[in-house]
Amino acid sequence: MKKESTSKKNKKPWPTKAVMEQIYERKLWGGNDVDFYSGIGSHDPTIVKLYTDVVRSFLTSFRTPITVCDLGCGDFNIGKELVRYTEKYIAVDIVEDLIDRNKEKFKEENLEFHCLDIAVDDFPSGDCALLRQVLQHLSNTEVQKVIEKLSVFNYVILTEHVPEGDFIANKDIISGQGIRLKKRSGLDILAPPFNFRIKKQEQLASVVLDDNKGIIVTTLYEVL
Ligand SMILES: C[S@@+](CC[C@H](N)C(=O)[O-])C[C@H]1O[C@@H](n2cnc3c(N)ncnc32)[C@H](O)[C@@H]1O
Repeated sequence: MKKESTSKKNKKPWPTKAVMEQIYERKLWGGNDVDFYSGIGSHDPTIVKLYTDVVRSFLTSFRTPITVCDLGCGDFNIGKELVRYTEKYIAVDIVEDLIDRNKEKFKEENLEFHCLDIAVDDFPSGDCALLRQVLQHLSNTEVQKVIEKLSVFNYVILTEHVPEGDFIANKDIISGQGIRLKKRSGLDILAPPFNFRIKKQEQLASVVLDDNKGIIVTTLYEVL
C-alpha cells in the first residue's frame, strides 16, 4: 500500500474561511482587548483619516448617492465612517461571527451585512466596490476569481500594501495572515496574470510606512 505523504509540500492549504476565522480568534492582527480587530491598517488614525477623506470625497462627487459594496469589510472601523455618504452600503466578509457582531454593533437604515466568500459567491449588486487590504491576503487563484467578477461594478477602489519602489508584481502566496511584502512583491491587478481591464485609474492616496515596511496605496479604477 502506498504511504500517504505528510511532507509540507503535499499538504493542501487550509480553506480561506477557516484561516480568516483563526486569524480573528487568535488575534493574529492584534487587538488583544477587543472582540474583533482587523489590523493596524484599519485603526491607525492617520491611515484611517486619509482613506475615509478621499473615499468620502469620491462618494459625495455624485449628484445622487451611489450603492457601495465593501468586499472584506473586517471589523468595520473604516466602513462605519462611510455609510452616511451612500444610498446603500452592503458590507460582506467571510467570517460569520464577525458579520453577526457587525450586524449587532452597526445599525443604519441603508446598511446591510452579509457573510460571503468573495472568491466563490456572487457579489451583491452595486455601483462601486471597496476592496481594502483584502486581496493582499489572498492567493493568485483567489484574486483571479475576484477580479473576474469585478466588472459588474462601475468603480473599484482598491487598497493594497506593497513594497516601496520597484518590485516584481503578483508573486503567489498562500491565502492567510501574511502578504506578498515578505516576498518583496505586491499586487498589481492590471499586470499579468490578472490583466484587469479598466477605462481609467487614479491614485487617491498613499501612506509610506516607517522602517521600510512598505506603502499602502489606494487606487480608483473606472471599470471597462
Ligand atoms: C486585513 S482585513 C481588512 C478589513 C477592512 N477591509 C479594513 O480595511 O478595515 C481583511 C478582511 O478580509 C476578509 N476576507 C478575506 N478573504 C475573504 C473572502 N474570500 N471573502 C470575504 N472576505 C474575506 C477577512 O476576513 C478580513 O476581515
